[in-house]
Amino acid sequence: MKLEVQSVRKTFVENGQTTIALDDLTFSADAGEFVTLIGPSGSGKSTAFNLITGLTMPDQGNIILDGQRINGRTGLVSYMPQRDLLLPWRTIRDNVIIGAEISGQARSKAYQRAEELFPLFGLEGFEKAYPSALSGGMRQRAALLRTFLLGKGTMLLDEPFGALDALTRYDLQQWLLGVWERFKPTILFITHDVREAVLLSDKVLVLTPRPGKIKLEVRIDLPQPRDDSSVEFIKLQSMLLKALQER
Ligand SMILES: Nc1ncnc2c1ncn2[C@@H]1O[C@H](COP(=O)(O)OP(=O)(O)OP(=O)(O)O)[C@@H](O)[C@H]1O
Ligand SMILES: [Mg+2]
Repeated sequence: MKLEVQSVRKTFVENGQTTIALDDLTFSADAGEFVTLIGPSGSGKSTAFNLITGLTMPDQGNIILDGQRINGRTGLVSYMPQRDLLLPWRTIRDNVIIGAEISGQARSKAYQRAEELFPLFGLEGFEKAYPSALSGGMRQRAALLRTFLLGKGTMLLDEPFGALDALTRYDLQQWLLGVWERFKPTILFITHDVREAVLLSDKVLVLTPRPGKIKLEVRIDLPQPRDDSSVEFIKLQSMLLKALQER
């Protein structure tokens, strides 16, 4: 699905103090496109995701999904929040079907759909394990499966690999590319890692410090799988890093 964010402004008032989190944020993601947002901490990346999911309302501007204005409408995109956690008292199987369960779907049906995807998500054999028995990478894959099972054509992933070691992160990046190539959802992705951004994305958007708006838009036209030691890769990576660092 095509997603458009048009001239969005969002302010927060807390203890009488006003914070402009986003000002005139405009960007789009085409159907099946992988778009990454990078920007300094506090530049409004998570705020933008909350607006797109409809959990909060913009003060100005519009969120458009396949041509329809969806400001404040929930349930249309799949969302994996920053620091997403599995519920420790539920098995992996019961964790990943939570979206279906909340929306009133029969458990048996939800289990069946999940079961088919356990191998692809590298979780086969762990259906009835509790989160504490899984490695960090597996827990992240379970959280991604839960997001995937929400079943919308658009997935919002807020720093899904932030807390992982480099090797696990690398594996999950390759794996996510596989899932994306197979199902072609529109993906909006947030990261602080420019290498990850160049490795995965069709397009990278750099946000300014607060109030966030798009400072630079870079198309990554390199074929997959990408070689992070190629000259083009390193050029793009340093261009993004420079944009990120300059004030
Ligand atoms: N509910 C809220 N109430 C008040 N201020 C908020 C709220 N949510 C976000 N903010 C403020 O809006 C700004 C943007 O926050 P946001 O979480 O979107 O940043 P971010 O780009 O996701 O940062 P990070 O990279 O650290 O995750 C920050 O100054 C934050 O303190
Ligand atoms: Mg954030």
